[in-house]
Amino acid sequence: MTITTSGSKNLITIADLGCSTGPNTFIAIHAIIEAIKNLYHTSNLPAAHYQTLEFQVFFNDQVSSDFNTLFKNLPPNPNRSYFACGVPGSFRGRLFPKQSLHFVYSASTLHWLSRVPKDIMDRSCSAWNKGRIHHTDAPKEVGEAYEAQFKEDLESFLNARAEEVVGNGLMALQIPSAPDVAAADDDKEIHPARVFELLGSSLMDMARVGIMTEEKVDSFNLPTFYSPVKGMKEILERNEHFSVEKMEALNLKNFYAVPNVYTFVSLYRVVMEDLIKQHFGAAIVDELFDRFAQKVLEFPDIMNPRKLKIVMLFVLLKRKSQAEGKV
Ligand SMILES: C[S@@+](CC[C@H](N)C(=O)[O-])C[C@H]1O[C@@H](n2cnc3c(N)ncnc32)[C@H](O)[C@@H]1O
Repeated sequence: MTITTSGSKNLITIADLGCSTGPNTFIAIHAIIEAIKNLYHTSNLPAAHYQTLEFQVFFNDQVSSDFNTLFKNLPPNPNRSYFACGVPGSFRGRLFPKQSLHFVYSASTLHWLSRVPKDIMDRSCSAWNKGRIHHTDAPKEVGEAYEAQFKEDLESFLNARAEEVVGNGLMALQIPSAPDVAAADDDKEIHPARVFELLGSSLMDMARVGIMTEEKVDSFNLPTFYSPVKGMKEILERNEHFSVEKMEALNLKNFYAVPNVYTFVSLYRVVMEDLIKQHFGAAIVDELFDRFAQKVLEFPDIMNPRKLKIVMLFVLLKRKSQAEGKV
């Protein structure tokens, strides 16, 4: 496998989609550039070719992301071996000119949905998600609505990238996913979305004591989905633009080991707080996370990385060339 520069320039373009503000993105970009340099170094190309390589990195996130912090955190020159650009906007649609990217990276982003599935907000629909904020412990229609939204979103992402990535270009994705066996079928494993069940029941407890109305909780749902690995594989393999070069679960044993309940709760608070504030207002946030911490303490297995089965799926896709498939 190799990456071919385009035109007369020895330029390699890399995009990190959903990069946030650092430092993870800088660590990943450094590793990607070193790997590409190594690939060239060990190839049969003349030394002059790889010695003159230049890298341009596009850092993408939503327009609301703090790009100033990202830019302030950039490794300073001369330590930085690339030219940096910020690209604001949703990666569900086109962000770059046609066939302009050699390597795309995106980590811990694709489990975020573009919106809450429509049917689960509709009282007249069998998928209405009353009294919960996610699909665990919900009627099967709720889970199906989440799965359908995930499929639609992943397909939009792949279709947009199919336009932008050059033939034989690579895309490396890390996608938080769920094991294929449902938690309910195997009491040794806890489905990663059970965490949201505890958060949802904390909100319902607050509604019961009059801190907010039940309707307010009913109209709040989290736009995230941990796809079962099998479902993800089917979507990726059905895609006509990319071939699946590698797909494996990363070993997270140490990654998700958290020392105590407060660290565990703050990991989720960092990610969920803005969404909760937007819907319920800032005043309830401290009490909500205190109640959530109490529920975690009552169910400590949820903090055990051997039981809480988040699968971090690593997927390497290669853009098919014109000769192989549809461009
Ligand atoms: C959990 S963070 C991961 C950040 C970084 N990739 C990392 O590995 O540390 C998820 C990021 O994805 C971004 N994101 C979610 N949906 C997005 C979209 N449709 N377009 C661009 N960025 C998105 C969020 O704004 C957030 O910065």
